[in-house]
Amino acid sequence: MQTVPAPATWFSVRWQEGRLVILDQRRLPLEEVYVALESPGDVFQAIRDLMVRGAPAIGLVAAWGLVLAAEGSAAPDGPALVAELEAVAAELATARPTAVNLSWALTRMLARARAAGAGGPAAVRAALAAEAAAIQAEDEAAGRAMGEHLLALLPEGEAGILTHCNAGQLATSRYGTALAPIYLGVERGRRFRVYADETRPVLQGARLTAWELARLGVDTTLICDDMAASVLQQGKVDAVIVGADRIAANGDTANKIGTLGVALMARYFGVPFYVAAPLSTVDFALPDGRAIPIEERPPEEVTEGLGRRIAPPGVKVYNPAFDVTPHDLITAIVTERGVARPPLGAALARLAGRG
Ligand code: MRU
Repeated sequence: MQTVPAPATWFSVRWQEGRLVILDQRRLPLEEVYVALESPGDVFQAIRDLMVRGAPAIGLVAAWGLVLAAEGSAAPDGPALVAELEAVAAELATARPTAVNLSWALTRMLARARAAGAGGPAAVRAALAAEAAAIQAEDEAAGRAMGEHLLALLPEGEAGILTHCNAGQLATSRYGTALAPIYLGVERGRRFRVYADETRPVLQGARLTAWELARLGVDTTLICDDMAASVLQQGKVDAVIVGADRIAANGDTANKIGTLGVALMARYFGVPFYVAAPLSTVDFALPDGRAIPIEERPPEEVTEGLGRRIAPPGVKVYNPAFDVTPHDLITAIVTERGVARPPLGAALARLAGRG
């Protein structure tokens, strides 16, 4: 992996001139550093180390990771190359456990590779490049569509929105999920007042959401996570909008740790709580949220802050990266194909063409 020059207009993930280039999210907001990932090993490391994060973006880079694997392979024929790709995909799938978009993208890429296998390595390489580009284009279109649906749910005047973590362009190929109505609304002259939870412990809200919304010129107020209740109580928020890493068939939703608390507060104060996610985030194989695997991250993310240790040595730490919001706390799940309202399970199945 190597650093490459920053582009004139920022992006999160892009395939350019045969290279997979990402904005290194660990360095934001102080430094805007772009890195070219050159092998599946680089892709694995980038996902695991949060250089690239956010469910759709993780799926995207994994898809391009298989393109890199195919290009770097010396397999003599199609089936041998497909077998290599299966091994690489199995490894990449373990980089992070919660976002189902990762295995969804890898499964889709492998299906395309298998279908092209009889045509030999060149056919597999071409098919994979086309599929990864399609996943990226579909993600952008899905963001735009979710933005449209969400805009219709927000008040016409200046809308107050509270969001948690980062579910914007940094987490996707362009519009984001939860932030999509803001990107689209700004294009149309709509005004927003956004409250961004800082999102302890890794501070995706403070570092990333605040950074990208400032770039967009949106009125953004950063709050510590424990201030959200007060902001909701003061009537400053018309809607809470968050993203998702995995949604079970009944609508239970895994998202960044702290989301459950925000959902509970929103319910108490009568504020709509919307989840924005492409249908690729719905895992219909899981009946409810209890089986969603929750990533636990290193204790240092909790015991350290502001560049130094903030807790006594030896203290016990619990550091789950995600929590699960029960479906009955969710006002609606907004997908690219429309708005799922309770009962969420039936509505999601209908939107996915399964019901
Ligand atoms: O640990 P992260 O930063 O990858 O967690 C990201 C989130 O929880 C996002 O809210 C989710 O992936 C949706 S991104 C459109």
